[in-house]
Amino acid sequence: MSKPKVIVTRRWPEAVETRLKELFDVQLNESDVPMTTAELQEALRNCDALCPTVSDAINAEVLGADGITAKILGNYGVGFNHIDIEAAKAANLTVSNTPEVLTDCTADTAMTLMMMVARRAAEGDQHVRTKEWTGWRPTHMMGTKVTGKTLGLIGFGRISQAMAKKAHFGFGMKILFSDPYPPAKEAINFVGATECTFDEVLEQSDFVALHCPGGASTYHLIDAAALKKMQPHAHLINSARGDVIDPDALIAALKDGTIAGAGLDVFEGEPNVPDELIALKNTVLLPHLGSATLETRVAMGMRVVENLVAFFDEKPLRDQVV
Ligand code: DGY
Repeated sequence: MSKPKVIVTRRWPEAVETRLKELFDVQLNESDVPMTTAELQEALRNCDALCPTVSDAINAEVLGADGITAKILGNYGVGFNHIDIEAAKAANLTVSNTPEVLTDCTADTAMTLMMMVARRAAEGDQHVRTKEWTGWRPTHMMGTKVTGKTLGLIGFGRISQAMAKKAHFGFGMKILFSDPYPPAKEAINFVGATECTFDEVLEQSDFVALHCPGGASTYHLIDAAALKKMQPHAHLINSARGDVIDPDALIAALKDGTIAGAGLDVFEGEPNVPDELIALKNTVLLPHLGSATLETRVAMGMRVVENLVAFFDEKPLRDQVV
């Protein structure tokens, strides 16, 4: 029997590409250049499985292509807001994702952003590299204490709970959260978290971290009105999706002191980042590194492989989105 044809849209870690080659008739993207709409459509016409990731817009136009032979989108990543799920269903495509394996690393990135922005780590690093540092002094580059402060979480899913655990047990932080679908009581009680409204989280937290999905339901959830509810000394952390924040409102709030700072790993329209955000000293900006460790990126790829194998063996998928 011939092997299923699998097309991968970006480079994956070597160990996973090797495994894909063993199992499937695989077409890799050696150049790692994002595929165009036409190329994605062509790929869907020429494979059994397409494996996209967050940098591919798998929208209604792509999925509306004639003659699609693909039967599954094996997404590399937990978030799938770059895939039009209704259009995928209409094209009879199964969609899978990669939850769990990236939980800790993404939560570690959120912690990194919180520590860096509070303790001015990026600014300090730059200060040393540019040889501006003239020596220790009592008032030099004072930041904000993290230990013992209040962390407010918007969304309390897996990654958020992992951040809560690190922040509560590692840094003695008080945990607040809001989530329309709260987890079981044990998960809440484990970190002594308090369930709040969205506004209460914004109003009462020293650090607000976003852990909600992207897409239409959370588009610009953090707008000018939401930012005004935060305390002037508070910091905003985003390792979820860029479009959860209205970038113009955030830039204004960071400039006029509505909030103290922001640590961002994701951006609306990434990889484009507004110049005004780059110019601000009270921001820490990372290039969507949430899950970017070798261990996690291999695990994500292997999870896609597991889902594809199950699909082609006509077994239940571990991570079926639709
Ligand atoms: C995820 O898994 O959703 C990461 O953000 C990478 O896409």
